[in-house]
Amino acid sequence: MTQTHSEKNVIVTGASRGIGKAIARELARRGAWLALLARDESALTAVAAAIEAESGCRPLVVTCDVTDHRAVARAIEASVNAMGAIHGLVNNAGANGPMALFLDVPREEFRKLIEVNLFGAVEVVRAALPHLLRTGKSSIVNIASMAGKMGVPTWSAYCSAKHGLIGFTKVIAQENALNGVTCNAVCPGFVQTDMLSEAKLEQWAESIGMNRRTLVKEFILRRTPQGRFVDVDSVAATTAFLLSDQAADITGQTFNISCGIGDY
Ligand code: NAI
Repeated sequence: MTQTHSEKNVIVTGASRGIGKAIARELARRGAWLALLARDESALTAVAAAIEAESGCRPLVVTCDVTDHRAVARAIEASVNAMGAIHGLVNNAGANGPMALFLDVPREEFRKLIEVNLFGAVEVVRAALPHLLRTGKSSIVNIASMAGKMGVPTWSAYCSAKHGLIGFTKVIAQENALNGVTCNAVCPGFVQTDMLSEAKLEQWAESIGMNRRTLVKEFILRRTPQGRFVDVDSVAATTAFLLSDQAADITGQTFNISCGIGDY
């Protein structure tokens, strides 16, 4: 069943490609009006044009680096001013960095990944929450990861940030449970986007002393019960459901979209 999102205004971060783009397309198909945030204006404009062609409604394009809290505040303000009110927020912007054993990760690289994956979402919520509260019935979905529930060798900073994001999700849910704002986390498994491009897989394989083929076959697919990568559209559909009125009784929860990885 398709839930309607008409008359919902939703901000999606990291919407220029990959999972964020799929979420934006799905929400637009369901009738939402969107503000798309990311750093790359031309990529965002292309996504907005494609969405307009598909759904007839042109999303706003707002360029912003989520690690710059002043830029985040300006971007949320600009989105709210243009839309009048916001009913949904998807914190999707994220990155994984050079993969290496913990002692080989420079302090600055570690901090950078915490900045984008955890503080980025925190600052977007800081700026958007007052507006979501004003709307009275609204939802936040944080795109975490299965790496927010389990350790992955050579991903120390990314795993730390995503574990933190899940904790943050639960607190925002508890604090706002009586205020009409829900907050949930979606935890994808392995999804073939730029984040897991051939080059990134190559680099990851090297960091754990494997070749790329063995990494994909033995480390990823053999350990994934359904034996395949997750489809971006599954992540998008779950996210859209969590932003719908039908999900009003769900808050503080995590949803594994992982082809069977993980059991909590
Ligand atoms: P991607 O690399 O294709 O897209 C990441 C998006 O975030 C892009 O739009 C990029 O411009 C944006 N972004 C990155 N840093 C930013 C910054 N500082 N400010 C603003 N925007 C920024 O990756 P993908 O796979 O689409 O990732 C989306 C989310 O899903 C991320 O939070 C990622 O951690 C999460 N995820 C991805 C998985 C995968 O296997 N691809 C698995 C689990 C979670």
